Amino acid sequence: MMNVAVLGYGTVGSGVVEVIERNNEQVSSKAGDEMHVKYILDLRDFPGDPYESLVVHDFNVILEDPDVKIVCEVMGGVGAAYQFTRKCLEAGKSVCTSNKELVAKHGAELLALARENNCSYLFEASVGGGIPIIRPINKALTAEKLEMISAILNGTTNYILTRMEREGVGYEETLKQAQELGYAERNPEADVEGYDACRKIAILSSLMVGKNVDSEKIYTEGITKITPADFAFAKAAGRTIKLLANASADDQDRVQAYVAPALVPLEHPLAMVNDVFNGVFVTGNMVGDVMFYGRGAGKLPTASAVVSDVVDCARHVGRTSIVCLWEPVEAKLLSIDTCCKAFFLRCSAEAKAQLTEVFPGGTFLSAEGVDEIGYITPVMEEQEFAKKSAALGDALHNRIRLA
Ligand code: HSE
Repeated sequence: MMNVAVLGYGTVGSGVVEVIERNNEQVSSKAGDEMHVKYILDLRDFPGDPYESLVVHDFNVILEDPDVKIVCEVMGGVGAAYQFTRKCLEAGKSVCTSNKELVAKHGAELLALARENNCSYLFEASVGGGIPIIRPINKALTAEKLEMISAILNGTTNYILTRMEREGVGYEETLKQAQELGYAERNPEADVEGYDACRKIAILSSLMVGKNVDSEKIYTEGITKITPADFAFAKAAGRTIKLLANASADDQDRVQAYVAPALVPLEHPLAMVNDVFNGVFVTGNMVGDVMFYGRGAGKLPTASAVVSDVVDCARHVGRTSIVCLWEPVEAKLLSIDTCCKAFFLRCSAEAKAQLTEVFPGGTFLSAEGVDEIGYITPVMEEQEFAKKSAALGDALHNRIRLA
């Protein structure tokens, strides 16, 4: 019998219990032992819930039970979740998590702690929900020097952008719809300002170079300034708009990472990732391009990824399962200032002459029913663009990078 404890009985926690129970035969045979949820830790009681008898309120019950070898931390946050994870790992219990905030902040340290205590800290569900991406990077792409990751890592914003594009509706109204449908949180800040995608690309870029990429130092822009007019111009340019989380590593393992909306060519695989789906486009120096696609959020997809980690831990009790190179040393993060891109500008119609003067050699765009003008600049460094675009003043209504 392989006893598992689940910390947090929210959406993902209840999904973890459901996956282990509904797929018990498959999960147990793959784990090589009968999988059993022994405890659920939560502050609340769940009268009438089929698993209410498993609910405990004291974490020490789990910590002190030698029969519990695997713990799923699906509480979220970096307070109690961090303390509980440390204590479990110190006690030699493997921890599987969907908590991207904790992984982004303390991943390297918790991995080292797991290694010291012959157990595992696994976090497949922390990036891309149900999409396998952490395990492929750590196990399948090990022959590669990973050069670039370009990804759609947030389902909420991808849903909002998809609806805006298809229905021509403004950001605020689409956000409201997404909230009503339960896709967006009541406080949507972490999603719409790009912070969630930022934590996820920090995790992926740390794995790319095997060193810690600090999420707080990654340049991050959200989607709140995007309008239907931006989509109309994007269409005129044969593109769509996606919130991209990008990271690239040079031959000295210096990382350039950012999260920002981008005009993506319609023929690029990421342009086809719509609604709440996520996509991760990885470029290795030998394999070339590899793409991962699927449900980046939601109860069962996320829980499925957590349970895949549980299976791995069950097969490696008493030792570290997946080798994950992520040392607790800071990676060198390059400033976005030297990043080279072309920029799409949406400006008032009067700025036409000024645009060709400030950014010679660009291309004008026009969109039906839009009384502004669109312009695509030549490729230039971010710092050059920032300096030159200041001359446009209030005539510049929005600017979006080209992917
Ligand atoms: N809020 C996240 C999203 C959930 O919309 O993708 C998964 O991390």
